[in-house]
Amino acid sequence: MPTAVLVGLQWGDEGKAKIVDLFTASADVIVRYSGGANAGHTVVVEEEKFVFHLVPAGILHRGRLCVIANGVVVDVKQLVSEIDLLRSRGVEVDGNLRLSSRCHLTLPFHKAIEREWERSRGSTAIGTTLRGVGPTFVDKFAREGILVCDLFREELLMEKLKRSVATKNLILSAVGSETRFEVKSLFEELLGYAKRLKPYVCDTSLLLSRLIGEGKRILFEGAQGTMLDIEHGTYPYVTTSYPTSGGVCVGCGIGPGQVGTIIGVVKAYSTRVGAGPLPTEDTGDGGLLLSKRGNEFGATTGRPRRCGWLDLVALRYAARVNGVSSIVITKLDVLDSVDEIPVCTQYRYEGQIITEFPPELDVLQNCVPVYTHMPGWRESTRGLKEVSKLPENANAYLKRIEEELGVPVSLVSTGPGREENIVLNEDLLPFR
Ligand code: GDP
Ligand code: IMO
Ligand code: MG
Repeated sequence: MPTAVLVGLQWGDEGKAKIVDLFTASADVIVRYSGGANAGHTVVVEEEKFVFHLVPAGILHRGRLCVIANGVVVDVKQLVSEIDLLRSRGVEVDGNLRLSSRCHLTLPFHKAIEREWERSRGSTAIGTTLRGVGPTFVDKFAREGILVCDLFREELLMEKLKRSVATKNLILSAVGSETRFEVKSLFEELLGYAKRLKPYVCDTSLLLSRLIGEGKRILFEGAQGTMLDIEHGTYPYVTTSYPTSGGVCVGCGIGPGQVGTIIGVVKAYSTRVGAGPLPTEDTGDGGLLLSKRGNEFGATTGRPRRCGWLDLVALRYAARVNGVSSIVITKLDVLDSVDEIPVCTQYRYEGQIITEFPPELDVLQNCVPVYTHMPGWRESTRGLKEVSKLPENANAYLKRIEEELGVPVSLVSTGPGREENIVLNEDLLPFR
């Protein structure tokens, strides 16, 4: 089955887009299946940086079809401006983009509601990206959502908008917010976007099923990461969608048998933006070094990412819930100057050793990581392309990850650039 999923195994920002861009060279179709404009996916091509929020990162390669499937919630204003920005930079966005008619719309009132939610949570705020994604999914599950296909049914759109705006204005007034929304202007704005987006809209489930039937090579681009999954992440400090590989089926309208290879993307250390447990967080010099060398600032919000060491307990769990058959390690070069690299192999909880990731938040919050220290390599791996040049200790670091997760590493990324990679096992790369 020439389909492959690239899924983040940590808290997002693993470097998924860089790998999507790399694998797109041998793919025909690239599909976003979950999340929304909360994603910030960075691709660097010849020093030029592109950040994607809704458009699949594969769009940079000519001749590939890029699909935004039904599992993605779409801020139409953001999508239109992303398309315009890409075009202004010489990227073709035309017949090569498709948008599911069943995507739910993120509208300005979702963002306003989210600001109030976050404010009201005070010290327990989730630290969301404030892109309106959570409230959009709430409306979706409350069966109050407005869909892309509604944009082309004016009467229905007006009816749904009236209801949504009335409810949202009521909520906003109840929580003491001064913000209010107005149906008419929102309606007119949406009609404008509808006109712009119409050429891309189709039944993407049908499209994907046909493409799979034709044997096309399809790459599913994960957004967020396993630890942010609404079902399997560190609830409630999670996003509201299914970033895990299981999300591909519901997010695209295809069957489990049509999902081929599942590849996990793992950053060589841990980062997290927003609140919630990050067991291996290092708030001292070590974390600062990772933050600086890794340039760990959110691609969507610019917020500094919290940094820490590799967490093998969490990674074993993530490899399991996604069913990954191989992994890609990114940002190995960030560890180049570390003398002794702490690697968390177990947790300690109330005096007991834990080797399985605990499902309860309060247990996780009280787990203390148990570290093994691996010798650093103290030489530059930045931009390395040949496996023979990889320092011995760097090899040992990768081997340790393979052993602990029980899955092989296919590729190592040694810099943000498209060419900065070492292939360890060509047979494990998708579409070979
Ligand atoms: P994504 O959300 O998983 O696609 O990741 P982001 O784009 O949010 O964050 C990853 C960041 O790391 C981006 O700025 C990439 O350009 C950068 N990056 C990716 N791979 C590497 C690598 O191997 N080394 C270094 N130094 N940077 C990398
Ligand atoms: P990519 O695709 C990292 C985090 C937010 C917050 C939590 C909930 O670039 O890896 P949300 O706005 O989704 O309701 O916020 O999830 N978050 C991400 N963190 N990378 C992302 O996406 C993220 N998308 C959401 O910081 O903690
Ligand atoms: Mg990101």
